Order: sequence, then C-alpha cells, then structure tokens
Amino acid sequence: MFQYAILANPGHNRIYFDTAVKIACSELMAILESMQLVVSEVLEKDVGLPAALVFESEQELNAQQLTRISASSIYYAIFQIVEGGLLKPLQPTPFNTFPESMSQILRYTGKTNEQFTRLMVNLGLSAANTSGENKCLMDPMCGKGTTLYEGLIQGLDVVGVEINAKWVQETQTFIVKYMKNGRFKHKVVKEKRTGSGGKKIADGFAIQAAHSKEAFANEQSQTMKLYAADTRIINQIIKKNSCDIMVSDLPYGVQHGSKNSKDTKMARSPLALLEEALPAWKQVLKSKGAIVLSYNEFTLKWKELAALFTEMGFEVKDKQPYVGYIHRVDQSINRNIFIAVKP
Ligand SMILES: C[S@@+](CC[C@H](N)C(=O)[O-])C[C@H]1O[C@@H](n2cnc3c(N)ncnc32)[C@H](O)[C@@H]1O
Repeated sequence: MFQYAILANPGHNRIYFDTAVKIACSELMAILESMQLVVSEVLEKDVGLPAALVFESEQELNAQQLTRISASSIYYAIFQIVEGGLLKPLQPTPFNTFPESMSQILRYTGKTNEQFTRLMVNLGLSAANTSGENKCLMDPMCGKGTTLYEGLIQGLDVVGVEINAKWVQETQTFIVKYMKNGRFKHKVVKEKRTGSGGKKIADGFAIQAAHSKEAFANEQSQTMKLYAADTRIINQIIKKNSCDIMVSDLPYGVQHGSKNSKDTKMARSPLALLEEALPAWKQVLKSKGAIVLSYNEFTLKWKELAALFTEMGFEVKDKQPYVGYIHRVDQSINRNIFIAVKP
C-alpha cells in the first residue's frame, strides 16, 4: 500500500473551511475513482500537517495521476507518507495552462467562490465519460465567468451563456485585457447568432488563446465563447452534442432571481426555469456528458432536481462520492451540489 497526504490550502474560503475539507474528501474520491485507482477512503487525518486529506492506494501514483490530483480544489501540496510517518514531498507537473489568477482577480457581488467552482468542474470531469481528446465545458448561466476561467485554467475549451448583456460585455473586456497583460497570444472575433428568418437571437464573442506562442502555432490554443442570451434557447446558439460537461451555479433567488417566462418577477426557486431550460441543455450536451449544478437548499431540494432530471431521461448520480455536498454559506444560503449524466 502507498500512503499519501494532501496539505489543504490554508487560503481556502475561511467562512466554511471545515466543511470545505469535508467536501474536498468526496471530490478527491471522485477524482481518484475516475482514474480507476483502487484506494481506501479519503479522510481528514492528523499526520503532523495543519490540515491534511489522507488516502492509501494499491498502486503508486504516476505522474499523470499526481497532476490530476493537484488540480483538486483543496490542494496545496502532496506528500507520500513513508516509513516511520515521514512526509516525502512530491512535485506534480503543473495541471494548469493559464495562471490561476485568471479566476481570482475579479471581485463582485454574486461571484461564485473560485475554489468551490473548481470543485464542481472536477466533479464534472470525473462524472463524465465522453469520447474525444479536447474537452468542452459549458456554463449555461455563467455570470461574469468564474466557471469559464476555471475551465480555461484546466486546459478546456469553454462556452458560456448569460442573460445579462452588460456582464457579457464586461467579461469580454476583462479576458482581452488579461490576455494582453499576460502577453498570451490571442485572437478575438465577434459572434452573432441568428434564428429563423435571419432574426438576431444572441450577440457574443469568441476568443482563441494559448498559454505559449508554441501552443498557438501548433494549433493547441483554447477557445472561449460567450453569448448574451436566455439559457432556454442555447440549443439555437450552441452546436448540438458538443459539450462534455456543464457546470453552473444556479441563480440563488437571493442575489439573483431567475427570469422565466411564466413569472416575470424575480422567482425564488430556479426550478421553473430549469424545467424550461433542460430540454435545450440536453441537446447541447454530449452522450455520457455530465451536468453539475450548485443551488440553495432553502429554495430548491435535491429530490426535486432528481425527479426533474430523471423525468428528462438523465441518470442521477445519487451515490457517494457524488452526493453529500451540502454546506452553509451564510444565513440565507445552504448550498448543495447536484450531478447527473446524459445517457
Ligand atoms: C449565481 S449567478 C452565477 C455566477 C457565476 N458563477 C459567477 O461567478 O460569476 C447566476 C446567473 O444566472 C443568470 N441568469 C438568470 N436567469 C437566466 C436565464 N434565463 N438565462 C441565462 N442566464 C440567467 C443571472 O443573470 C446570474 O448571472
């Protein structure tokens, strides 16, 4: 048996650090299982580090596995626990293409915490079993793009849809400036989507960028596309069967209301909006692609989501390590995660 300890990032959201470690154990388990590793339970354990996640593996971790583990949301450093409990530091090859600052710089009301977003992206990557090399992540209600930046950092192509056109514009300004300041080679194109009769249905932009000149020259650049549109019509904007994972922090009904057609006021629960959006979401997701949603348990229940997704023909991930993510964010938000896969 090989024993490993992951030092938890001390900078991780202090408001819910204790639960962050607990849910990170499940996230790590999902990552390990998706790499077909035979491992023991992942536990928080005292091995002489301030806070550590510990697990045993039948096989010694290889370079690729170490890199994947280092992308977990709580990761700060990894050690192999050797004879006598000594901690041997390991040095994974960096997992990221673009710098992690990309998702950290912007601060605004309604932003989803970037480490929590990374956890959702990792759950999506672990739950999905799509074919093809280059993976595409979509956030169908992307706000100012935290999920998209986390996807870019992990080397994915990303596409987002956001109803607030002003936010889409601000996101474009930010990402172009980021690429310029970081001297990353990039190319921006305007995107316009038209529906039947040539009527415009969405404005947007696409940026093609690479972390190095060589990658850009070798056609290893990544793409970010973003559209200002209603999430219920994404099937008219985005190619069918093109996304491997969908990750989104649903409108909470506290900071954001969901704007659905039946109720023009701000609705507290995003369920009605989801019912209307899900047929379109399903079309753009690939077979074996995964959807990961975070939501407020005070306004929406896991069981309601499970019933809706089952009715829509999805396979609900209802077992560990894909359940049990509920945690308190503040007085009005008890956050949870729901995961389902398209057959
Ligand atoms: C919780 S926020 C997402 C925040 C995002 N993860 C971030 O960090 O910036 C939910 C987003 O859903 C958007 N939204 C609500 N209804 C929508 C709809 N019908 N279509 C597209 N986006 C919608 C809201 O404008 C809001 O930006």
